[in-house]
Amino acid sequence: MLKSLFRRKNIDQAIKDVNSVEHGSGLAKVLGVRDLTMFGIAAIIGAGIFSTIGRASFNGGPAVSLLFVFTAIACVFTALSYAQFASTVPVSGSAYTYAYVSFGELFAWIIGWALVLEYAVSNMVVAISWSEYFVSMLENIFRIHFPRWLAIDAGTAKLAYQDVQKATANGTLGEIASNMKALAQAYVDAPTFAGIKIIFNLPAGAITGLITALIYTGIKESRNASNILVVIKLAVILLVIVGGVFYIDTANWKPFAPNGMKGVMMSVASVFFAFIGFDSISTTAEECKDPQRDLPKAMLITLAICTILYVVITLVLTGMVNYKELGVNDPLAYVFEKVNFDWMAGIISVSAVVAITSALLAYQVGQPRIWMVMSRDGLLPKKFSKIHKKYKTPSFATIITGLFVGIPSLFMNMQFFIDLTSVGTFFAFILVCCGILYMDHTGLSKNSKFRVPYINGKFIIGITFLAALFWTKYNTDGVFAHIGEKPLIIVFWLAWLAISIMALKYKFSLLPVMGILTNLYLMTELGWSNWRMFLIWVVIGIAIYFLYGYKNSKLNKA
Ligand code: ALA
Repeated sequence: MLKSLFRRKNIDQAIKDVNSVEHGSGLAKVLGVRDLTMFGIAAIIGAGIFSTIGRASFNGGPAVSLLFVFTAIACVFTALSYAQFASTVPVSGSAYTYAYVSFGELFAWIIGWALVLEYAVSNMVVAISWSEYFVSMLENIFRIHFPRWLAIDAGTAKLAYQDVQKATANGTLGEIASNMKALAQAYVDAPTFAGIKIIFNLPAGAITGLITALIYTGIKESRNASNILVVIKLAVILLVIVGGVFYIDTANWKPFAPNGMKGVMMSVASVFFAFIGFDSISTTAEECKDPQRDLPKAMLITLAICTILYVVITLVLTGMVNYKELGVNDPLAYVFEKVNFDWMAGIISVSAVVAITSALLAYQVGQPRIWMVMSRDGLLPKKFSKIHKKYKTPSFATIITGLFVGIPSLFMNMQFFIDLTSVGTFFAFILVCCGILYMDHTGLSKNSKFRVPYINGKFIIGITFLAALFWTKYNTDGVFAHIGEKPLIIVFWLAWLAISIMALKYKFSLLPVMGILTNLYLMTELGWSNWRMFLIWVVIGIAIYFLYGYKNSKLNKA
C-alpha cells in the first residue's frame, strides 16, 4: 500500500503521453523569451498591485517596499527550481506533474490540490478586486453610483459599521478613514430580509460568470491579445508612477516603518500574492522554441520587472498619501482622487478594469487545465477531461471552475482568500525546491539541459544555520523570545537544522535550499490560523484521494 502511494510517473512516459494523447502531434513551438516574459507579466500583475498593495501599505507603511525585495529573492530561488523541472519534464501540469515524477502520486495529488488555492482561490481575490475598480470606474467616469451594499461582502461592511459606531461613542470619528465610513453606510443602507442584511458582491460574481462563459465557448488567449493586455497593464502602472511622482510628499515616508517589523511582516501574504503567477510560465514549456534556455531567462526577467515596478509603486503610493489612508481595495485610483486629480483616477479605473480582466482570464483558463491533466491520470473523474465537441474546451472543468470561483466571491472578503492562496502556494513552492534536491540526488535530472547552478551546500548550510542562531540570540530578544506569538518559527529553525545535517551527507545544492528556507520563513509569518486552514484543506484533499484517486489512478490500473 505504502509503495503504491509513492508510485511515480516515468519522465519519458509523461512526455510521450503529452504527444500522443493530449495534443496529437504536439503543440507548435513558437514562444521565445519575449512572449514568455509577456505571459509571465500577464499572470503576475493583477489584484496584487491593483488592490492588495493598499492594505499591505496600510499595515506596514512605506517599508513594505523592502518586503517586496525580500519576497522577490525567495521567488528567484523558486523560479530557478521551476525552470530546471520545466526543462526536465516539459509538459503542462506544472508543479503537479513535477511532483508526480519525483515524489510520487500522493504528493502529486496534494500539490494539485494546493494548486487549486493558487489558481482558483486567487481568482476570487482577482474578481473582488475587479469589482472594486468597476464600481470606482462607474463613479469616476460615468458618475453612476452603484449601491455599495451590492459590491461588498457582509462581513467587511459589518466590521466597518461596528468600528464607526465605536468611534462615534468614543468621539474619535475624525480618525476613521472616509472609505470605512462609506462601508459603514453601506451596512446601514442595505435592505433587510427576514432579519438578515442583504449584502453581497454582485460585480465579482457577475464578471466570473461572464469570463467563464467566454472561456467555455472557446476563447483562446492568443499571443497577440495577451501582449496587448500586458502593454495596457504596464501603461497604467507607469502612468501612476509618472503622474504620482509629482504629488509625493516625503514627509509621508517618515516614519518609514510606522508599525515596526511586525506591521511589515503582517503583509507577507499580500506581498507574496502579488508575485504569484511567475510559475505559470512553466506550463507553456511544450510551446517554447527552446525551453531550456528561454524559460529560466523569462522567469528571471519577469521577476526583475515586477519587483522594480512593485517597489516604485509602493513608494509612490505611500509618498502621495499617508499610509493610514491606504486601507482600500482600489488604492491606485484612490490616491489620485485623494489629491483631487480626478480625471487621472478615472483613467486608472478604466484601465485597471481591463488589466484585471486579463489576469482573471489567465487563471480561469489555467485551473481547468490542471484538473484536466489530473483527470487524465485518473485522479479526478473522467468528466474533468471531457472536451466540448464544438468549442474544443474542457467544458465540465470550466463550468466547475466558474462556480467554484464565482459563488464564494459573492460573499467572502478578500483577505481570507489572500491568506489561503498564499499559504497553499508557499507549500507548492517549497515542495518544488525539495523536488530539485531529490532529482539531483537520484540522478533523474542528469539529462536536464537547464540545471540550477550548483553550489555545494555541504558545510555552508550548517555554518549559516549556526551563524543565524547566534546572530538572533545576541541581536534580538533571543531565538525563542517571541515563541508565544509566533510558534511556527520553530518549524523554520528545525527544518534548517534538519537540512544542515542532511546536507553533510548529500551535499545539497545551495540555491534550492535557499528557496526552501526563504519560502518557509515567509510562510511561518502567515500565522497558525492560516496554517490550520491549509491543513484542513489538505486533509479534505487526502480524504478525496483515498475515496477516489487511489483506486482510479491510471498507474494503479496499469
Ligand atoms: N499575482 C496575481 C495577482 O496579483 C495573483 O493578481
